[in-house]
Amino acid sequence: MTMPHEPVLVTGGAGFVGSNLADALLSDGRAVIVFDNLSRPGVSTNLDWLRSRHPERLTAVIGDLRDADAVAQAVGMAGAVIHLAAQTAVTTSLIDPVADFEVNARGTLNLLEAVRQSGRPMPFLFASTNKVYGALSDLDMDAANGRHLPRDPEVRLRGIDETRPLDFCTPYGCSKGVADQYVLDYARSFGVPAAVLRMSCIYGPRQFGTEDQGWVAHFLIRILSGEDITIFGDGRQVRDILHVADAVAAYRMVLDRIEDLSGRAFNLGGGVGNAVSLMDVIDTIREISNQQPAIRFADWRPGDQPWFVADTSAIEKATDWKPRIGWQDGLRDLAAWLRENRVFPAGRAEPQRRPA
Ligand SMILES: NC(=O)c1ccc[n+]([C@@H]2O[C@H](COP(=O)([O-])OP(=O)(O)OC[C@H]3O[C@@H](n4cnc5c(N)ncnc54)[C@H](O)[C@@H]3O)[C@@H](O)[C@H]2O)c1
Repeated sequence: MTMPHEPVLVTGGAGFVGSNLADALLSDGRAVIVFDNLSRPGVSTNLDWLRSRHPERLTAVIGDLRDADAVAQAVGMAGAVIHLAAQTAVTTSLIDPVADFEVNARGTLNLLEAVRQSGRPMPFLFASTNKVYGALSDLDMDAANGRHLPRDPEVRLRGIDETRPLDFCTPYGCSKGVADQYVLDYARSFGVPAAVLRMSCIYGPRQFGTEDQGWVAHFLIRILSGEDITIFGDGRQVRDILHVADAVAAYRMVLDRIEDLSGRAFNLGGGVGNAVSLMDVIDTIREISNQQPAIRFADWRPGDQPWFVADTSAIEKATDWKPRIGWQDGLRDLAAWLRENRVFPAGRAEPQRRPA
């Protein structure tokens, strides 16, 4: 549906997932418009990297999702939209839920409206989150072999699929969940060819993880720098982590098949094969780095899921996608990138203020 000569608008294209996705599209000869307000500390480095690699096909718009005119202008230049820009931290959403709503919910509506008003059938992919399924507190859990696991073997072996009822939790979960539902409804009500990818933890190069978001990169950055780390909870939480190259491949496959997949939401994560506890990740980082970090434990964070593993069979059936990079190889890859690029611990992100 998108013509190869039409630019893909990647909101949040300077961010972690966005810069990897933009680079993949640009490397294949697609034109890309990156729309980003550069509010995430460190991401201007990603934009400089994209500019240096693709001086001709990349257009960078430094703009804010809350600025409907700027959003409409960017949409006017594009043939497809991949919407990744967001306030991404649960912690920040708890400090300023209104700013979180304005960026994630209202900002997404600004984009969808610009697409609708354009009158063109513009493919639209949205980066949602597994947080739309809430804390999964109804699942009976066991803690065995250092991991929280659901007692029900069916759930444990397959993971959580898209039939799971939505249960928005925390302001971030609500704002992303609202956006997720608006995207699906714009497919239903207005025929926008749109799909949603509900992502588990993504990790990989160009990720500037902090204590508030991007925990895999955060642990690596701290441990490689010889710093201690704090675990919120008991470290037995389980996540299905997915390397960003695999996530990028999934977006591209869904985009290529959007005519058939419009109106659908897919869970996207490493699946049961890449389900690890926080302590598993730390143990592997210890091996990779030869460091023995001091670990402090703090209270669980609101809405934290003791276990989340995506059942990825829907996206696997709908496309040829499956995760290809195993989590241990992926961790080594990210460690190598962080070392090469000398990425050091960063501070906490501030809530976003409205642009003047
Ligand atoms: N990384 C993950 O593990 C993960 C998991 C689930 C969902 N997601 C979702 O995927 C998307 C990408 O995540 P990421 O890890 O690449 O995050 P990121 O913080 O690296 O990228 C987000 C980008 O959006 C930009 N941005 C923020 N507010 C903006 C605004 N108001 N206007 C314009 N640009 C703005 C930031 O500057 C940043 O470059 C987000 O929507 C996030 O909610 C990520």
